[in-house]
Amino acid sequence: MTNHLSRRNWLRTSALAAGSLVGLSVLDKPAFGMKPFKGSYSLREDFFPPVANEIKARLSANENPWGPSKKAIAAIVESAAKGNRYVYNSSREMEELLAKKEGVTPENILLSAGSTDILEKVAFALCMKGGNVVSADPSYLSLVKTATSIGATWKNIPLTSDYAHDVDAMASAIDGETKIVYICNPNNPTGTLSPIDKLKNFCKQVSSKTPVFVDEAYLELLDNPESQTTVGLVSEGYDIIVCRTFSKIHGMAGLRVGYMVANPERIKMIKKLVRTEMALSVTSLAGALASLADTEFQNFTRNNIKINREFTFKALQKAGAAPIPSYTNFILFPIQMPSKEFTEKMAEKGVGVRGFEISGKSYGRVSIGTLDEMKLFVSTFNAVS
Ligand SMILES: Cc1ncc(COP(=O)(O)O)c(C=O)c1O
Repeated sequence: MTNHLSRRNWLRTSALAAGSLVGLSVLDKPAFGMKPFKGSYSLREDFFPPVANEIKARLSANENPWGPSKKAIAAIVESAAKGNRYVYNSSREMEELLAKKEGVTPENILLSAGSTDILEKVAFALCMKGGNVVSADPSYLSLVKTATSIGATWKNIPLTSDYAHDVDAMASAIDGETKIVYICNPNNPTGTLSPIDKLKNFCKQVSSKTPVFVDEAYLELLDNPESQTTVGLVSEGYDIIVCRTFSKIHGMAGLRVGYMVANPERIKMIKKLVRTEMALSVTSLAGALASLADTEFQNFTRNNIKINREFTFKALQKAGAAPIPSYTNFILFPIQMPSKEFTEKMAEKGVGVRGFEISGKSYGRVSIGTLDEMKLFVSTFNAVS
């Protein structure tokens, strides 16, 4: 009875919150009117689903269910025979292609084994003598976790009420000890986009004091990525490090390819410390080259994510949850039970999702998979809530 009542109350509260979204397009408006996070997202309070053999829909790591593209797979298979050789200079073709795509020179590009490689190496290079990192809360924590584990501190700045980076508060938080500012846009785990003009002005304003790292892992899932990137600031000479990955739109998460775009001095800074090209595999590089040329596959991914995200968003709203409008391949939504319990219950029924405790509230995050997977997610969500 109590459970029944509390569920009804929760449904009512969530429906009210969801009501504030009425009239907003799911895909192109921020979630105005929803309660802001207060910013106490602990470094530890996120919950992976238990590893269960019977997981039928793996919707926990923002992976691309359609990748890698067939052309990438063919290139990988063909290149396997060249696996006796180190990558060395054969990465030049990729650096040149990426430079052209990003409007910079190959000297501005550093390839890596996924963007985690870049996030961690930048944290090592800049924070090995301590200092602090300024970043939003909640946001992606890879760089922050590495930095804090080697002695830096984290200055966490809550997102604004519409889930954008609070650039004014971030600028005020920068002090003489700040080694790097980290921005994730679109942001994980909220799925939201910060206004690009404000973000660029912020980068221009603060990068004379501290480098700004802009993690654009989900950028290429947008319809208009060129209009939302900060990468142009690199060729304008600002101290900005932009990071991209082949794990999302290219569906190559397990193949590990990413890159950073930055001033040659920043690239030298990393290369002095580690030899990033030694982490690259001949096969992954060949797959990434083929995938970069396969715009048909990229468009397929982008379109299907949009369709399946819209389906899932509406289904969550119908279920009385109040999902946050997302620009990415995942959706964050408040839940009525501790996030650990939620991920476990979902996993028991074969659906892998992530859970977060943010500002003392529990949230679930579901990655966008195939339509069948999303239908399974929705029915399982309805069964466990
Ligand atoms: C914002 C963000 N940056 C970086 C990564 C890491 O991606 P990669 O597979 O390139 O290491 C992720 C992975 O989910 C992410 O969400």
